[in-house]
Amino acid sequence: MAELSASILSADLLNLERDISTAVNSGIKWIHLDIMDGHFVPNLTMGIPFGKAIKRKFDVNIESHMMVSNPDMYLEEYCSFSSVMTIHYESPVQTSRVLESIKNRGSSPGIAVNPKTPVSKIEGFLPLVKYVLVMTVEPGFTGQKMIEEATQKIPILREYREREKLNFMIGVDGGINRENISKIAALGPDIIVSASAIFSGNIVENIKFLKSSMKENGNG
Ligand code: DX5
Ligand code: ZN
Repeated sequence: MAELSASILSADLLNLERDISTAVNSGIKWIHLDIMDGHFVPNLTMGIPFGKAIKRKFDVNIESHMMVSNPDMYLEEYCSFSSVMTIHYESPVQTSRVLESIKNRGSSPGIAVNPKTPVSKIEGFLPLVKYVLVMTVEPGFTGQKMIEEATQKIPILREYREREKLNFMIGVDGGINRENISKIAALGPDIIVSASAIFSGNIVENIKFLKSSMKENGNG
């Protein structure tokens, strides 16, 4: 079954420790950090001090989703707390060089693709990564509606992985909720990211519901 990764973008920032603690006690092992620079995307969020503080306090895997124009900046610091460091194919850097740098700093390199970017554009990078993050909303904000067509990249990536004997994980991020999560799980991703469906309302109940819906239809 896929792992549910909690994006803290929708958590109560004045009670972040409490919210993460509740999520972890409900079985969450992955925390998704949405790092935005107000330039690559029209929103500004969290950065290095957040990641370090979470890692100090909780025994979780942190996946940092870098929605920044220059993911090369402060890479060492980000890698110090990230199990997985995911950069965007669309960011204007030399993707393979940054992926290599992430690996050299002891973190697993990941690549994210925007909804409109086809898998064919990232094929050349797939042997270099341990994670592919399929974006099902335009990056920038929590609580958006899922762009369904983008979910078709999940089976495409699974087939590609099998055919080429590669071993990256496949994540899916954006607009996942109680209504659509079982359908998404049936497509066989390894990681399902959610912010608002986890942190709005009762976190314990939300995680319980989402996990059981994933189980019903998951094939992974
Ligand atoms: C969007 C972020 C997502 C976002 C998901 O730019 O990359 O991780 O937090 O939020 P929900 O699950 O509310 O769509
Ligand atoms: Zn994200």
